[in-house]
Amino acid sequence: MGARHAGGVRERGARPAAIDFSEMSASVPARSRFGATLRRDAWWLEILPVIVILGVFGIYATARAFEGRFFEWGPYLSPFYSPLIDPEHRRWPFSPALLILAGPLGFRATCYYYRKAYYRAFFLDPPACAVSESRKSYRGETAFPFVLQNFHRFFLYLAVLFLGFLWYDAIRSFRFDGHFGVGVGSLVLTVNVLLLSLYTFSCHSVRHLAGGSVDCFSCSASGRARHGIWRAVTSLTERHMLLAWLSLVAVGLTDLYVRELACGAIRDLRLF
Ligand code: FES
Repeated sequence: MGARHAGGVRERGARPAAIDFSEMSASVPARSRFGATLRRDAWWLEILPVIVILGVFGIYATARAFEGRFFEWGPYLSPFYSPLIDPEHRRWPFSPALLILAGPLGFRATCYYYRKAYYRAFFLDPPACAVSESRKSYRGETAFPFVLQNFHRFFLYLAVLFLGFLWYDAIRSFRFDGHFGVGVGSLVLTVNVLLLSLYTFSCHSVRHLAGGSVDCFSCSASGRARHGIWRAVTSLTERHMLLAWLSLVAVGLTDLYVRELACGAIRDLRLF
């Protein structure tokens, strides 16, 4: 039986009709020319907020991690310093934040969404969808150092551990001198850990753990429950980009709030 022709049946062994590229070559930009594109919109506007927000956060977080002061006020502890290890510098002479930085930083840096964002914004690789990059070969994330991005799932386990500390801090922020109380800082810490939890559990690796390895929910043990979890995680994963930005801004502002309290620049408002 013959193979199919375009629009009919092609005889066995017959070559497919050649495609004429002569008309296309005038309009398709040269592959090697950096920034070449057929897009007519202001595609570069997409990367500007990423450069500004990630850039400002990166500078602020680095400065705060090295500062080593103003991380605690009353029952409030900055998320940049949680869990707080050796604040009296008995064994570690530098900022306590540097001892724990690798966990949250590794989780964010290897996040699938952030990878797309910073590859485009900072490496211009590519600068945007359907816009040409400068390099000629492509190895994806198969070579060092980008192959290390595959550790993302392991950073997820660390991130869940960190969430436990941050929830403890948020609950502790409602105790003033041994009594229950609510300050603005209590609400700030609670909203922060809530957003961080939503971001963490919207992770694509969580979705894979929930159901990504299952071919057939109805055939697997606890399939119904697992399908329910997978659907819930999927609805979070669809909002992963939004949660990534909200939680990033929240963690930065929470640290700033605690810092300003600790250095005496502002006062905490007790609600009751
Ligand atoms: Fe973004 Fe996992 S994909 S945190």
